[in-house]
Amino acid sequence: MRAFHRLDALRQYRQGATRVAFVPTMGNLHEGHLALMRAAREHADTVIASVFVNRLQFGPGEDFERYPRTLRADSEKLAAAGVDALFAPEENDLYPEPQSCFVEPPDLQHLLEGEFRPGHFRGVATVVLKLFNCVQPQVALFGKKDYQQLMLIRLMTRQLALPIEIVGMETVRAPDGLALSSRNAYLSPAERAEAPRLYRTLRALKEAVLREGIQHSATLQQEARQTLDAQGWKTDYLAVRQQSDLRAPASATRKLVIVAAARLGATRLIDNLEIG
Ligand code: PAF
Repeated sequence: MRAFHRLDALRQYRQGATRVAFVPTMGNLHEGHLALMRAAREHADTVIASVFVNRLQFGPGEDFERYPRTLRADSEKLAAAGVDALFAPEENDLYPEPQSCFVEPPDLQHLLEGEFRPGHFRGVATVVLKLFNCVQPQVALFGKKDYQQLMLIRLMTRQLALPIEIVGMETVRAPDGLALSSRNAYLSPAERAEAPRLYRTLRALKEAVLREGIQHSATLQQEARQTLDAQGWKTDYLAVRQQSDLRAPASATRKLVIVAAARLGATRLIDNLEIG
């Protein structure tokens, strides 16, 4: 596997590749990322991954400084997964001057995650567009665990007419149901044992909505939230929404998604589950 830390070297390599599939990451790679890498191989003859902890998408007081940086282990995993090239830019290579030009996503950016992490999706959209311009892929793959992020990236790609196919991949879970996430590394053993309750709660809520009907979803989601909070979680949101726009469901909506973010100790976990 080739590794590039400078944009000019990456661009030179890119010139020699025909069809590129790209997987952007912030590193600390787990099986969820590696599933994206393997799927990428089915879409192109060259697979490029990036590892870059993007300061722009972290708010004040969030975990930018302590976000796990494990580049050596990440490179080994990427090489073993058959990735052709790693782009791991230095911060001053991707942001050689303070970034003052941003991608401003639509109102969807202010819902759910956006309400609790103001500016987050602006930072994500800006770096993803920038990485797309560096790598110039034909295909890019993202996990569905970051459901709202995937929606906004699809929307940006469509509205800015980027010639890139966006592929969303199912969330990879531990055997006990916990969605794999780099932030799981922050959990103490006791928190790790408790963490699968988030997905269990989503599954129970899905069954309740299917059984009792969508008109009861507001009450049911409130009860689900209380279940979590009673076990020491601090729930930011737990909501049944329409897949199409992440707004509260109209009575005829068939395609729903339950989205949640909750804190266990100092760790904030997110997850989601589609219905229909
Ligand atoms: O999902 C992530 O890891 C990040 O938000 C992304 C897409 C790599 C942008 O920094």
